[in-house]
Amino acid sequence: MAQLQDTPSTAATEDSVPLKTWSLEDSLVFFNGRICPMREATVSVAAPALNYGTGCFEGIRAYWNPDAGQLYALKLREHYERFTQSCRMLKIDLPHSVDELCDVTLEILRRNEYREDVYIRPLAFKGGASIKLRLRGVPDEFAIFTFPFGNYVDISAGLSVQVSSWRRISDNAIPARSKVTGAYINSALAVDDALEAGFDEAIFLTADGHVSEGSSCNVFLVRDGKLITPPVTADILEGITRLAVMQVARDTLGLEVVERDVDRTELYVAHEIFFCGTGVQVSPVTKVDGRAVGTGRPGDLTTRLQQAYFEAARGSDPRYADWLTPVY
Ligand SMILES: Cc1ncc(COP(=O)(O)O)c(C=O)c1O
Repeated sequence: MAQLQDTPSTAATEDSVPLKTWSLEDSLVFFNGRICPMREATVSVAAPALNYGTGCFEGIRAYWNPDAGQLYALKLREHYERFTQSCRMLKIDLPHSVDELCDVTLEILRRNEYREDVYIRPLAFKGGASIKLRLRGVPDEFAIFTFPFGNYVDISAGLSVQVSSWRRISDNAIPARSKVTGAYINSALAVDDALEAGFDEAIFLTADGHVSEGSSCNVFLVRDGKLITPPVTADILEGITRLAVMQVARDTLGLEVVERDVDRTELYVAHEIFFCGTGVQVSPVTKVDGRAVGTGRPGDLTTRLQQAYFEAARGSDPRYADWLTPVY
């Protein structure tokens, strides 16, 4: 049975409980209005989304808290609100309200009996079978699948990143603030180049040469004790983790947060840099284009923010209880 790549076998959370062998094909998914095993959720090779990239998706995490014996879906409503905005961009008629999407997600998580960290992938797309290149008049399809998920990148050692020669998609070409599937060609090109060249990740500049974001994450710099991040007009995906990090930085660490244009060479003189996003969580960046960031080790503020973020996300800090939806 296939396992998803990048899926560490984190099935072990409670040593005394015998764990069933997990397989993607057997996992229960939501597909076009019903819950079924993944193997039954199939699409046509002639689906427009497969041919033209006309789909949109979300990436959501649920964190297992072994002390509470609870799985917490993180910022579930916020993700589905962004998802409905992405659907609107693509004229995808989603037959479910945000409340219904949250409910069915919780139902799938429960039915899959997860007791470990999980990734949730809602996906809406232009389906059926047609070579017509258009948004209207094409059937919409919708799925949610889930799988066990640990760290997507190394979150402790520090990442070495490359400023990509690929520019971030411009909002006038592809809606940058939507998670549209076709836009991820841009991310795949940048991250693949970075990996080929021996880096861990890429940072995009906008078409006008300002810092935008990572290949699938937002970026923050620390300069003179302040957090700085590119504004929502810098062709970024308006990250949900980005807002969460800003809240923790202000409320818990008392930091000033500034949203403004960031020049490329500010990356070379920043005291600290980190990425944030559902996949990467909060990940220190310790090298940019071969130049050490600060001391060349994960920065103090980054480390404190990362710790505060994880406490909130895993349900260990009651001040952020409204970020979380308990699954059980
Ligand atoms: C291109 C891009 N930018 C930023 C992010 C971070 O967004 P979020 O924090 O909502 O996961 C993601 C990940 O979803 C992404 O794919």
